[in-house]
Amino acid sequence: MNILILGPGAVGSLWATKFQLAGHHVSLWGRTSESELSLQLDDAPLTTYSNQSISSLQEADLILITVKAWQVESAIEPLLPHINADTIVMLMHNGMGTAEWLESKLSDNPIVIATTTHGAYKPTKQHVLHTGHGYTQVGGFNAKGAKCEFLQDVMNHALPSVNWNPNIHSALWTKLAINCAINPLTAIHQCKNGDLAAEQYSSLLEAITHELVEVMNKEAIVTDFDTLHRTIMQVVNATAANYSSMRQDVFHKRRTEIDFITGYLLQAAKKHQINTPENAKLYQCLKQIEQSWTEQ
Ligand SMILES: NC(=O)c1ccc[n+]([C@@H]2O[C@H](COP(=O)([O-])OP(=O)(O)OC[C@H]3O[C@@H](n4cnc5c(N)ncnc54)[C@H](OP(=O)(O)O)[C@@H]3O)[C@@H](O)[C@H]2O)c1
Repeated sequence: MNILILGPGAVGSLWATKFQLAGHHVSLWGRTSESELSLQLDDAPLTTYSNQSISSLQEADLILITVKAWQVESAIEPLLPHINADTIVMLMHNGMGTAEWLESKLSDNPIVIATTTHGAYKPTKQHVLHTGHGYTQVGGFNAKGAKCEFLQDVMNHALPSVNWNPNIHSALWTKLAINCAINPLTAIHQCKNGDLAAEQYSSLLEAITHELVEVMNKEAIVTDFDTLHRTIMQVVNATAANYSSMRQDVFHKRRTEIDFITGYLLQAAKKHQINTPENAKLYQCLKQIEQSWTEQ
């Protein structure tokens, strides 16, 4: 396949190199205007890819968007006039809320959403490290996207394991709920995920979870307090030594994905007229932290 990676950061470079090693024709669309970019995955040889090539964009069978949630609009907007209506457009980022906007701009295209637990890190511009093996869930966002189940085999061949999930909406909500519980708290307290298992966080995590369950149920996601709380604590324990991406973003004073994580939850809660005071407090706290950087 002709695959274009929009946003070759850590996750984008991981998939670019894996697709290339699986025999696909891969090109990149990064922020720099150099016509070529080189990438090395772990100890594999350095490989060169075309960058910002309009013809590669026009000929793409698949565009994989791996920018952060808040970067999606500004990254895709200038590319819109060149995207063929047959091109499958796949979003792969934490948080929710970008697919609705994407569909409003590319209503004729198959739109697919992916969520991954693989870990990737770019110590330099050219070098990407596959830091943690995980799995990827993929599913259609619109009717045409729902017919793209063949992508499971294509992606599984490149970077297993990949599972086509006809109910990707539910999987995304569960991931969002885990992120709502873990990311803001670890960012505010600058702690590791495992620190949230301490007694001092237990009643707050329970309150956050109750709010999440109420909103998710109104969104027709089947879950209950015990199930979601168990899932959240399993992730806290399984990733105990890790720093969440939001903790890292705050540490480095980078804009976080809070608007597309807790912000998305709060929008859904407002729509259903549900009170979510604990999540609202976390959201406000993160926004204040982000705001404080621009005031310095
Ligand atoms: N890294 C992980 O292990 C991991 C795991 C699971 C999920 N995720 C999620 O995956 C998403 C991507 O994470 P990441 O770690 O790969 O982030 P990242 O390294 O910051 O990658 C984003 C890339 O998009 C580029 N970009 C931004 N705006 C662009 C534009 N207008 N045009 C072209 N390229 C643009 C950035 O370029 P610049 O470098 O110039 O800013 C950067 O290279 C996030 O939602 C993250 O939460 C990450």
